[in-house]
Amino acid sequence: MSFGKHLIAYSSPAGSTEKVGSTIGEKLEQLGETVYYLDLSSSAWKEKASPVLDKDTSSSMIWIGSPVYAQHAVPPVREFLDWLPYSSERQGAVPFVTWGAVCSGIALFEMGRSLEEKGYGLLGAAKILSEHSSMWRSNSPLGAGHPDETDLEKVRQLAERVQNSIKQGAKFPISSQDLDYQPAWIRREAENIDLQKVKSFHPGYPVDNEVCTQCGVCADNCPAGAITLNPFPEIGENCFLCNNCVRLCPEGAIYFDTDTVENRVREMEQRFQEEEKKSEIF
Ligand SMILES: Cc1cc2nc3c(=O)[nH]c(=O)nc-3n(C[C@H](O)[C@H](O)[C@H](O)COP(=O)(O)O)c2cc1C
Repeated sequence: MSFGKHLIAYSSPAGSTEKVGSTIGEKLEQLGETVYYLDLSSSAWKEKASPVLDKDTSSSMIWIGSPVYAQHAVPPVREFLDWLPYSSERQGAVPFVTWGAVCSGIALFEMGRSLEEKGYGLLGAAKILSEHSSMWRSNSPLGAGHPDETDLEKVRQLAERVQNSIKQGAKFPISSQDLDYQPAWIRREAENIDLQKVKSFHPGYPVDNEVCTQCGVCADNCPAGAITLNPFPEIGENCFLCNNCVRLCPEGAIYFDTDTVENRVREMEQRFQEEEKKSEIF
């Protein structure tokens, strides 16, 4: 089994998942591997991904990273996994998630299962603790300071271990079943919640047209391509609640009720005490 090329694909509105992805890439490059990055927030990702996957499929492997949103992977990552061509060569893959110390849900399990359904074998996986991306205005956000150096060291260990098992021609050491670590009640809840449901009770992002200068920063940084300037920002159906438009608006023209959201997230966090709030590699 020889791989040689690594595609690191990720969606990362607030940057933690990207940080984990680049830590993996740097370690692999240090070990002499060739690395390609694919930011799934770019509208051109399919054109960029195809050549890497098509040219020499038998010698590339995939790392795919997502933040956990409402217990699942985010829409761009799910879209990528749906799009991924079937791997008749049974290539290797490693799913990884970052999560904001509430609950890592079933995102990693679902990503692993999707990869297996596409013919991939799992060489490892990771769930990495990160600062909660709805709490950037808080004095004490959940997951504050993460991923820290200890978390990133675990990520480097995973990269090294994966590279070793490739070199030694080892069979795939884990399966998606190993990522099904949540107790039954969490799995049931997670299966019953999705972003559409969260959106139905989310207040949305009202824009103050008196303050907005139509600069376009919100549209340029929307990972879902959901914002059109008409001439003021209009937020469309594809929005998956990442908050980038609010966070990055230089005028503070997009409103977000931080306190209500923060309280709700903290209440949720109280319900999910069984999962230790730490990073783990598989
Ligand atoms: C809409 C939304 C939903 C989220 N849902 C969860 C969740 O279910 N569990 C959790 O632990 N963190 C949750 N988070 C926090 C993110 O998973 C976490 O901050 C992640 O590291 C963000 O990744 P990024 O920095 O790459 O965007 C949520 C964040 C947002 C904005």
